[in-house]
Amino acid sequence: MRTVSDLADLRRAVAEIGPVAFVPTMGNLHEGHLSLVRLARREARAVAVSIFVNRLQFQPDEDFERYPRSFERDQRLLQAAGVELLFAPDEHVLYPEPQTYLVRPPAMANELEGKFRPGFFDGVATVVLKLFNCVQPRAAVFGKKDYQQLMIVRGMVRQLHIPLSIVAGETVREPDGLAMSSRNGYLSAAERTEAPRLYRVLQKVCEGMAPAEGMHELASSGWQPDYLDVRRRSDLAPAHAGEAERVVLGAARLGATRLIDSVEF
Ligand code: PAF
Repeated sequence: MRTVSDLADLRRAVAEIGPVAFVPTMGNLHEGHLSLVRLARREARAVAVSIFVNRLQFQPDEDFERYPRSFERDQRLLQAAGVELLFAPDEHVLYPEPQTYLVRPPAMANELEGKFRPGFFDGVATVVLKLFNCVQPRAAVFGKKDYQQLMIVRGMVRQLHIPLSIVAGETVREPDGLAMSSRNGYLSAAERTEAPRLYRVLQKVCEGMAPAEGMHELASSGWQPDYLDVRRRSDLAPAHAGEAERVVLGAARLGATRLIDSVEF
């Protein structure tokens, strides 16, 4: 595996390796990321992964500074997974000057996650577009755990005619149902025991429980739920009862850790 950190080396490596399928990450990799790497492998002969903790998508009161960084371990995992190229730029490589040109996703980006993290999807869409321009992949893979992010990236690629295909990866879960996430490491032992409740509540909503009841179950079990909402899979518009192809999305804080999850039904 080649590891590159500047744009000239990246472009040289991509030119030599040939068309790549791409998995953008913020590092602190887990089995969820590795499952995206395996999906990427089906899309091109070579796989490129980026590790970049993108300040632009963090609010000032969020965990940018303490976001878990484990570069050497990540590098070993990617090497073992057979990844051909790792792009790990410093901040000044991706943002050599203040980023005054931003991608502004549509109004849907101000709902669900966007309602609680204003500007989050501007930051995500902007860095993802920059990464696409740098790596120039033929396909890119995003996980369904971050369902709204996946939809926003899909819409951006479609509307801006970015010449690549977006592939969606299923959420990888711990044996007790907790969606794998780099932020799970923040949980205390007691919180880790409680954390699978979010998935259980989402499953109950799929089976007919009202989202308000799910919010109540979370709140009465010590969580601070932000939202629990059933949407249409195709465009994340509010879904009608009984409609086919829905997804329930939820986010809630357990102690100091904010977890998100989603389940299609
Ligand atoms: O999902 C993530 O890890 C990030 O939002 C992404 C897509 C790498 C952009 O920073």
